[in-house]
Amino acid sequence: MIVLGIETSCDETAAALVAADRRILAQRVASQHELHGPMGGVVPELAARAHVERLAPMIAAVLDESGLDLAQVDAVAATAGPGLVGALMVGVVTGQALAWAAGRPFLAINHLEAHALSPRLACPDLSFPYLLLLVSGGHCQLLAVQGPGAYRRLATTIDDAAGEAFDKVAILLGLGFPGGPAIERAARSGDPAAVPLPRPLLGAAEPHFSFAGLKTAVRRTLEAGAHRTADVAAAFQEAVADCLADRTARALDRLPEARALVAAGGVAANSAIRARLAGLAAARGLPFVAPPAWLCTDNAAMVAWAACERMAAGLAPEAPTARPRWPLDPLAEPVRGAGVKA
Ligand code: KG4
Ligand code: ZN
Repeated sequence: MIVLGIETSCDETAAALVAADRRILAQRVASQHELHGPMGGVVPELAARAHVERLAPMIAAVLDESGLDLAQVDAVAATAGPGLVGALMVGVVTGQALAWAAGRPFLAINHLEAHALSPRLACPDLSFPYLLLLVSGGHCQLLAVQGPGAYRRLATTIDDAAGEAFDKVAILLGLGFPGGPAIERAARSGDPAAVPLPRPLLGAAEPHFSFAGLKTAVRRTLEAGAHRTADVAAAFQEAVADCLADRTARALDRLPEARALVAAGGVAANSAIRARLAGLAAARGLPFVAPPAWLCTDNAAMVAWAACERMAAGLAPEAPTARPRWPLDPLAEPVRGAGVKA
């Protein structure tokens, strides 16, 4: 069973061929950072147009690299949401057309489910249920992962996502876009104790997140006087790590059946955050699992893998419609706060 995966939900164009036995036959990712960087954020129309230009040659390249032709692909899967609707449509329409041409099934994949199951592509021993910290540019959630298609959201952010906070603080520091890797690099030579920053919601009873206040505190600190960029980056990264670990510990208290603590999504590529979560898991006697950094940030291998998991579980295909919002747990209660994410 070989699946062609397609990812175009935001500013990464990606294609991959993945086998159900976890072999990644070929995978490519083209980021559009050079396109959106000067704008200070992702411009939806530019993203969609870049996907149109890049996707078809990229699919041809992964087929070529793996030595397969379309007739040898058993299913085609594309991210159908959540994300930028114009960008999503490029992947969904392309995937559907290829599936139709090859006479194979098409699977519409939830981007969050692709992140949620990606650790199982990298780690065959990881079994359900696990507690997942899903931390990306658009989302910051704690989920009980019971199996493909079965998620219970334990917490979400009441304002910014963790990756969004990294990106906004990087702009304040003049470090460019995307912010996460730039802050991680700068933080290596910084002293986190040199700049006091708050830890929003630390110790709160519900395991929700909040990062808007932290971002504002960085702005005020910069306005108030001179600081070394490296120190501010280190202090910010440590504050985020403290918040993520504290909130995750609270969620672990509520999920005693969890067999592992798992992190996925772009922010899970951060080694300081990984180290902190690994420490938390060890203190609870749990394994800590996070995919390699390239599989944490957006890619199409995780999309193909989610399709493999859904087919193996016998789940019915989702409607092939691009969806800007698509919560993994439709029963999750809305959370008080401004920009609540799905
Ligand atoms: O999962 P992802 O590639 O896309 C979304 O689904 O959002 O996550 C992108 C986010 C960006 O906000 C980026 O700054 C952040 O992940 N990120 C990082 C690191 N690498 C990417 N944040 C902290 N440290 C990193 N090393
Ligand atoms: Zn993502």
